[in-house]
Amino acid sequence: MVDRYVMSIDQGTTSTRCILFDHRGRLCSVAQREHQQHFPKPGWVEHDAVEIWRNVQRIVPEAMESAGVDAAQIAAIGIANQRETTVLWDPRTGVPVGRAIVWQDTRTAPLVDTLRDRPGDEFFLDRCGLPPSTYFSAPRIRWLFEKTPDLERRARAGEVLFGTVESWLIWNLTGGRDGGLHITDPTNASRTMLVNIRTLTWDPELLDFFGVPRAMLPEIRSSAESYGEARALLPGVRITAALGDQQAALFGQTCFSPGEAKCTYGTGSFLLMNTGTDLVRSRHGLLTTVAYRIAGQPTVYALEGPMAVTGSLVQWFRDRLGMISTAPEIETLARTVEDNGGCYIVPAFSGLFAPHWRSDARGVVVGLTSYITKGHLARAVLEATAWQTREVVDAMNADSGLALKQLKADGGMTSDHLLMQMLADVLDVPVVRPLVAETVSLGAAYAAGLAVGYWSDLEVLRGNWHRAGQWLPAMDPERRAGEYESWQRAVQRSLDWVR
Ligand code: G3P
Repeated sequence: MVDRYVMSIDQGTTSTRCILFDHRGRLCSVAQREHQQHFPKPGWVEHDAVEIWRNVQRIVPEAMESAGVDAAQIAAIGIANQRETTVLWDPRTGVPVGRAIVWQDTRTAPLVDTLRDRPGDEFFLDRCGLPPSTYFSAPRIRWLFEKTPDLERRARAGEVLFGTVESWLIWNLTGGRDGGLHITDPTNASRTMLVNIRTLTWDPELLDFFGVPRAMLPEIRSSAESYGEARALLPGVRITAALGDQQAALFGQTCFSPGEAKCTYGTGSFLLMNTGTDLVRSRHGLLTTVAYRIAGQPTVYALEGPMAVTGSLVQWFRDRLGMISTAPEIETLARTVEDNGGCYIVPAFSGLFAPHWRSDARGVVVGLTSYITKGHLARAVLEATAWQTREVVDAMNADSGLALKQLKADGGMTSDHLLMQMLADVLDVPVVRPLVAETVSLGAAYAAGLAVGYWSDLEVLRGNWHRAGQWLPAMDPERRAGEYESWQRAVQRSLDWVR
């Protein structure tokens, strides 16, 4: 019998990867390409959607070639993607309207400030489960309409389409100008501020509010179902899953039961807890979001705490301050000291996300004395990720009424053992890391494979999860409480800075 594989395409903030997985969830081949980050003005972050599509066209054959696999051996394709990033394009030409505006971009801050005043956070939380923030897509569409002559009229006439990145890729993969499918899934749609979080349909009141015409929006399908053939690249092979990358990681970590949670540590970090078919309305600064919807089954929801700056603080420490020359060196430097020497860094480089949602917060370094060395600063950089996670976990426990018992961690930063120990210490729960670190890609592959019966059910997938590392709490409770209090005071300084 010929071996068969599931392909996943993970379109992330900095790069795009194509990975082939076998039936045991093992990674068999990987191809990757980075794309350019454009920073045209302070706070602006853009991507070229055409460059991203070209990268996909290159890495798919590369991954297949390196595994010696042909299209007949691909059982299905799953897509995971950076969420909220906004692409507008002309379906007659396939040409995007300018560059994609990335989830980190803060250009819509003035508009978002007006939303917080009127109609206010509650209006949005009730309808879409999200507070007004520069993070989400709808304010970007409004911004584009206001800055681009004739764009709104063209969108109303169906001459311009909107999509997050999975939409753009699926449209291209399924034929583009020649009948490409314009679709999305509920995990991505629920991050636009345009979807009703209960019905998972485009909400007329929200569309009206942002002035976004229905004609430009994709059809919302399930996260795992047969969408169509990838005829532009792999004729005969079907795309059968699409998930926002953080929901894909939740799926890849097999967090299928209520109360199970994972945190993916990358440029930013994203903690998601499965809340089952119950929609939990956050009272503590988290997002209510969709975890996944498998065709024919009820929607599964999640609570999410996004932290905008974690790994990117290490990059800043390396590239802007020049304190280290490679990211892994931060661990060595931080280990030269016993503790942070009383120093805390709050990395509110573009405001603070969960649980504060304050776009006007700014980064602060507090507790400096002449005693502080580079080592203490390195420690404070890593601790910033740990304490931000603690704030999110506290909010998660308060919202869900469940106490987190263990944290499943994944993502690039989890290779830092000191950080993993800090997390166990400040959270006071064990932190575990899975054998397959590529949980985003794995999750998209799992959803795609389930849709075509490559895997029979969720239990089989659970059986593929193996632990590669575990860190147990070892911090004295009094020290933990004292340091958390200091962190919270530092956060207050960051929030007060503009006042
Ligand atoms: O919400 C933004 C998130 O999806 C970005 O994830 O891994 O592409 O940086 P990543």
